[in-house]
Amino acid sequence: MTQKRLFSAKARREKMESSAIIQRCRNNLWFVVFTLFVFWYLLLYVLDWSSLNPITQNHVNSIQSEKFNLVDITKNPNEINSLPPNFSHRNEVPKEHETEDETAVGEKPTKAFKEVVSKNQETGKSSGNQRLSCSGRYIYVHEIPKKFNDDLIDHCQSLDNWTNMCHYLMNNGLGQQLPRDKIFGNTGFFTTHQFSLEVIFHNRMKQYDCLTNDSSKASAIFVPYYAGLDVARYLWGSSASERDSGSLEIYKWLKEQPEWKIMWGRDHFLVAGRITWDFRRGVDEDSAWGNKLMLLPESKNVTILTIESSPWNSNDFAIPYPTYFHPSNDREAFGWQNRMRRLKRRYLFSFAGAPRPNIGDSIRGEIMGQCQKSRRKCKLLECRDSGNKCLKPGNLMRLFQSSVFCLQPPGDSFTRRSTFDSIVAGCIPVFFHPASAYVQYLWHLPKNYEKYSVLISEESVKGNNLSIEAQLEKIPKAKVAAMREEVVKLIPKVIYADPRSKLETLEDAFDLTVKGVVERVEKLRGEIREGRNSGFVGDEEYSWKYSFFGTLGNDEWDHYFRRRSKDKYWGR
Ligand SMILES: *[C@@H]1O[C@H](CO)[C@@H](O)[C@H](O)[C@H]1NC(C)=O
Ligand SMILES: *[C@@H]1O[C@H](CO)[C@@H](O)[C@H](O)[C@H]1NC(C)=O
Ligand SMILES: *[C@@H]1O[C@H](CO)[C@@H](O)[C@H](O)[C@H]1NC(C)=O
Ligand SMILES: *[C@@H]1O[C@H](CO)[C@@H](O)[C@H](O)[C@H]1NC(C)=O
Ligand SMILES: *[C@@H]1O[C@H](CO)[C@@H](O)[C@H](O)[C@H]1NC(C)=O
Repeated sequence: MTQKRLFSAKARREKMESSAIIQRCRNNLWFVVFTLFVFWYLLLYVLDWSSLNPITQNHVNSIQSEKFNLVDITKNPNEINSLPPNFSHRNEVPKEHETEDETAVGEKPTKAFKEVVSKNQETGKSSGNQRLSCSGRYIYVHEIPKKFNDDLIDHCQSLDNWTNMCHYLMNNGLGQQLPRDKIFGNTGFFTTHQFSLEVIFHNRMKQYDCLTNDSSKASAIFVPYYAGLDVARYLWGSSASERDSGSLEIYKWLKEQPEWKIMWGRDHFLVAGRITWDFRRGVDEDSAWGNKLMLLPESKNVTILTIESSPWNSNDFAIPYPTYFHPSNDREAFGWQNRMRRLKRRYLFSFAGAPRPNIGDSIRGEIMGQCQKSRRKCKLLECRDSGNKCLKPGNLMRLFQSSVFCLQPPGDSFTRRSTFDSIVAGCIPVFFHPASAYVQYLWHLPKNYEKYSVLISEESVKGNNLSIEAQLEKIPKAKVAAMREEVVKLIPKVIYADPRSKLETLEDAFDLTVKGVVERVEKLRGEIREGRNSGFVGDEEYSWKYSFFGTLGNDEWDHYFRRRSKDKYWGR
């Protein structure tokens, strides 16, 4: 439904835009002809396609409920062991974009364009989500001791051994605002850190339109514990008990509150803004990685949102990484989408990242080799030994804006923040493993992944020297245009709006997450009310399969998810 509405708004916008240009350039006959050609092109390749294939994203909702069923499964925490002590996925941001010019990046929006966009914003208001009744959507925010959140921000300089997080945590967790320029347009862009989600989410929650101070009225209870910022202080060179202390204390506190016993925490949710593997330490050894937040008994009941969930566990739920883009109103988001539609993209594909020589299974080496061989078709942005050049969002966004496809191979773990940065830039993501996105972001990405992305199996690249360039060249132009349009439409769903203001009609990643959580808790509540055991009888090892396919019958992806042992987070 939302998609349809967006689509018609978009069509209207394009039409108005074209006629405005025609008026302005009445005297230039050739320009009129050209404009008409562009108009027809849009009609043929964008409008036709979309109307012939009605976009049905809502079936994602039917999928998510499957994962809900799995919460009761218990697993011996000791079965899941630690990651290597030096397991790290820090700051994987490529370095300076060495040579290329900037012609590929879009021109400044014209005045006519801006007028059209602002007009559109006004007309769009009628169909907003603001009128939704709060009934069944109330959230109660627990007032937890400050040491679990605000104090961490106050001591931002000691949150990380290598990075001063203070710059990243300003502006409600968005980081420093980026200046207007060719890449960021009229902005809404910030130097956002990939692990800032807890802070951004908490601040977005403060703006949620259905907050209540009466916990008995609430559909769900938000616990604003900054689980990732807490553990990050101790990930390197600290004891296991230091890393666990925050998690143990917050649960102790929660269980002392009257709200806990109502549903034994099943209506509680929190955000752990790092990947799940940072919270799944199976053994109590200092050399083992991370803390054991996700393995504590309370975490079987609480809904934990994270930027990468475990395919083999059912108690964590992935939501998008924060990107650099945080629009403060619909107009900014629409304007950005339009710019991304119109860019000229000079590279067929690109990759931004570093090799992983320490991970034997990694395909990054192959991918980088292929990219280098493809010369003019592929742009490689390599990030070795960092240096502050690597941290510049402009370099990344410029690359993604000038590429048709963006390669998103697994790195230290399955997912990458880069996936969402590339979507924001209108670059079609190419995945090599279904756990990099498809079985993760069930509330945010369409189930029909072929509409907005390409899946090339790791094995075919590694084992058979499959040419990525040849695979991508094979996709017909019209299909590529359709995929890009789908990616551009996803932008609002995968970004977190500026917490200091509100989007009018668009639903962002926060809105979709709260919807997902409320539905999940409602379902659990219903089951408890009916006296049904909300337990799921099955093997948690297949939790990825239940949540994506909804059935055990499909074995298409089994080979990706086979693990030699449950000791390793990484398969094979
Ligand atoms: C990191 O792990 C690799 C093997 O996985 C090992 O060769 C290397 O020495 C380790 N580095 C550190 C700093 O521990
Ligand atoms: C809840 O209570 C606090 C302080 O008592 C107040 O500032 C806030 O506006 C209240 N929120 C709602 C949604 O009623
Ligand atoms: C990180 O910093 C803490 C103090 O802030 C220190 O105790 C610890 O040894 C440091 N760890 C590393 C690996 O440098
Ligand atoms: C989790 O919920 C179950 C009921 O479904 C309850 O028996 C159990 O005690 C709860 N766990 C904790 C730690 O409260
Ligand atoms: C892939 O390429 C490498 C080096 O170019 C070669 O050694 C290997 O035999 C090739 N594998 C296949 C299956 O073609």
